[in-house]
Amino acid sequence: MEERKKVIFSGIQPSGDLTLGNYLGALKNWVNLQDSYDCYFCVVDLHAITVRQEPKDLRRRTLEILSIYIAAGIDPEKNTLFIQSHVPAHSEASWLLTCSSYMGELSRMTQFKDKSQNMGDSINAGLFVYPVLMASDILLYNTDLVPVGSDQKQHLELARDLAERFNHLYSPTFTVPEPYIPKSGAKIMDLQDPTKKMSKSSQNPNAYILIMDPPETIRKKISRTVTDSLGVINYTDDQPGIKNLINILSAIKDISPEEVVSLYKGKGYAEFKRDVAEAIIEELEPLQSKVKELMNNKEYLESIYKRGAEKANYVSMKTLRKMQKKIGFIPR
Ligand code: TYM
Repeated sequence: MEERKKVIFSGIQPSGDLTLGNYLGALKNWVNLQDSYDCYFCVVDLHAITVRQEPKDLRRRTLEILSIYIAAGIDPEKNTLFIQSHVPAHSEASWLLTCSSYMGELSRMTQFKDKSQNMGDSINAGLFVYPVLMASDILLYNTDLVPVGSDQKQHLELARDLAERFNHLYSPTFTVPEPYIPKSGAKIMDLQDPTKKMSKSSQNPNAYILIMDPPETIRKKISRTVTDSLGVINYTDDQPGIKNLINILSAIKDISPEEVVSLYKGKGYAEFKRDVAEAIIEELEPLQSKVKELMNNKEYLESIYKRGAEKANYVSMKTLRKMQKKIGFIPR
């Protein structure tokens, strides 16, 4: 009998234009892993509405992210690409798991704590239960591996806890997933404040590189990156700006940070920044033109997400039915 290929699930929210952080922390690794796994790559639009979204921007970004997946090299013939809201099992499973999640564990999620700061009572409840929806995404496909950046590690631990809790409460149902966190791309930092993660929700455009930024913008933003006055290229926490640029180059070129350091021994920041900018441009330019092409071919995109939803619906519904039966719901 053919052995079951291990399963990968991952997703990106269409809550803002994608950054180099999303690319190096997640997407680039998906491309590398796709041949060895049965992969589900989702555009998680249900997650995006935990923050108010302009409907037309949400629509554009959802399709743009799908295009970015394909343009980055994810083969739609071999992988399941779909849009989360097309697969109702995610919302249903999320309710079932919400009923075995604790207020305490959800209040400890650092992303919730960060996002809810200064929001007082008007924080929406979706932000609070969001990690349960993420757990449902993952568990419905009996996922073995979840390739994400390090900011998602805590959410993944919750998914593991919820899987184990359900398996224990009823009977073995879910595979307990493992995280896959890349070495150099795990946490790309803000270019203006390298103690913070690069984020698509940052107010200052100089703080991030967007996947769709034109070359001139990338050159400008990298040249303005906040560094230090030491003038040596070292991989150390004392030089967070330089460390971040080393990580970026290392992730793009697939070489170790130590190799980057030895390549730039005795060289100045200006030259280093120039090379980092050119490496980013070289990596992103072909992807950008492919995205533009794909965005002009909505029929093709539709054929991909429809086919993806069909497969995802079939697989997730089987797991959902199992959950419902074990909980004690009458089979329909
Ligand atoms: P999101 O949309 O914030 O980010 C998508 C992916 O990009 C990674 N990432 C980064 N990696 C390195 N450096 C950065 N500065 C950086 N910023 C973002 C994230 O770690 C993530 O892998 N909750 C998730 C989406 C999600 C999901 C899932 C992921 C929903 N369901 C199931 C995996 C499995 C999120 O908000 O990611």
